[in-house]
Amino acid sequence: TILILDFGSQYTQLIARRIRETHVYCELHPFDVDPQFIQDLAPIGVVLSGGPASAFTEDAPRAPQIVFELGVPVLGICYGMQVMAAQLGGQVENAQTREFGYAELAIEPCQLFRNIQDRIAPDDKPMLDVWMSHGDRVDALPPGFSVIAHNAATPYAAMADESRRFYGLQFHPEVTHTLQGKAIIDSFVHDICGAGHDWNMPDYIEEAIGRIRAQVGNEKVILGLSGGVDSSVAAALIHRAIGDQLVCVFVDNGLLRLHEAKQVMETFSRNLAVNVIHIDASRQFLEQLKDITDPEQKRRTIGREFVEIFQLEAEKINDAKWLAQGTIYPDVIESAGSHTQKAGTIKSHHNVGGLPESLHLKLLEPLRELFKDEVRELGLALGLPHDLVFRHPFPGPGLGVRILGEVKYEYAELLRHADAIFIEELKNSGWYEKTSQAFAVFLPVKSVGVMGDSRSYEYVIALRAVQTEDFMTAHWAELPYTLLAKISNRIINEVRGINRVVYDISGKPPATIEWE
Ligand code: XMP
Repeated sequence: TILILDFGSQYTQLIARRIRETHVYCELHPFDVDPQFIQDLAPIGVVLSGGPASAFTEDAPRAPQIVFELGVPVLGICYGMQVMAAQLGGQVENAQTREFGYAELAIEPCQLFRNIQDRIAPDDKPMLDVWMSHGDRVDALPPGFSVIAHNAATPYAAMADESRRFYGLQFHPEVTHTLQGKAIIDSFVHDICGAGHDWNMPDYIEEAIGRIRAQVGNEKVILGLSGGVDSSVAAALIHRAIGDQLVCVFVDNGLLRLHEAKQVMETFSRNLAVNVIHIDASRQFLEQLKDITDPEQKRRTIGREFVEIFQLEAEKINDAKWLAQGTIYPDVIESAGSHTQKAGTIKSHHNVGGLPESLHLKLLEPLRELFKDEVRELGLALGLPHDLVFRHPFPGPGLGVRILGEVKYEYAELLRHADAIFIEELKNSGWYEKTSQAFAVFLPVKSVGVMGDSRSYEYVIALRAVQTEDFMTAHWAELPYTLLAKISNRIINEVRGINRVVYDISGKPPATIEWE
């Protein structure tokens, strides 16, 4: 295992993903994790992430000293390098000139940069193009260290103590803008830490199946299937492990997309022969949502209804002992929460939390250690359809938060059809893969139009398409006008009740991705 200590950089999860991509298992923990935990984990190498703090202040977050005493290689990135310098006897200062963006570095021969360079300068020096983003910098090296990369603005752009195998990089190897970043990370984990290539999907499936069987024995497992990627992959994996001991409950809340319920049943019940109980509760949800206009109250109502229905079904399944959930690694990291992480929740995201206690079931979470891209890879390896595995995220409350104000069946139907046209055209044009999330929103306001010779007075559909890495910030997608024109035409012509289509050009922040 490679241990990554998180000092709160927005790129920390990227470090973990890059390491996993080199087929090495790694874990990410807050920088202030218990030293005993680190000792017990016995990592073969440690990475200190970047972070927003200043290493030269009194109360700056520090790496647990044990990290430097384990006798294993340590790589400090950005703040991680500064904290390493500060703790090992060097000095950090506020740089006169901050550096953001591309920088060209001259590098020295060392184990970390072995066989790595972007080009050779006229004076025969190997050069590296890197992505910088820092205000502070190392000003004096700790004893034992030497410079392995520099330029005029940053004399200590990278440092190394090769006898102890400690390395510091002022730049970010984990972002794709640093072209040789992957090679540098590869060099650190394989050549310097001596990691093997033992993190791969086929082996992982075998191991996971073994673990699930050992965990549940011959007891029954219940899983709430939503049709989303995580719960679907969890279902496919558990089914592979224990077959009919798994019972899935699929609750149709009436707020799903066009034909979604049918697709879920076809994929799981028919094609994969998974035991799925299909509950059509759309009427019940709509009744409960009547007259409710406040977004948070809608979320709570939908969440509560779901729990109630799910619980009722679960109780009917005799001798079920386990509740399976599609929790993935980013969920685990977020709920572990170091205090460098931003705390406030902007919206109360509904999930099935709260279920386990009331049901007295044990929790089975087979995807707990996987990142989203690994979950997708696993899904494909388990034979799930490409469309399902690569679908955009869909919120738990579904169309409930995409119909502004009160939710009505009539509105949901209009939205479903408009949304289906939008998504179909995105897929046909190749834009579905180029956007992270796209959907239609129903606005319950009427505007005037003209259709044929008569005046129309009908509802508005807004289209939203965003590009984002992490859904915390997002840009609206610059869809081609010709594509928008085609979608607008189709929606207005094919969805009776809509006479106007608008495109949302707000970024997050200040807007959110969903409209409610
Ligand atoms: P926002 O609107 O907060 O959305 O920018 C960020 C991401 O979270 C999804 N989202 C939700 N997911 N329950 C969910 O399961 C919710 O209540 C919820 N609200 C937003 C949203 O679709 C986007 O991917």
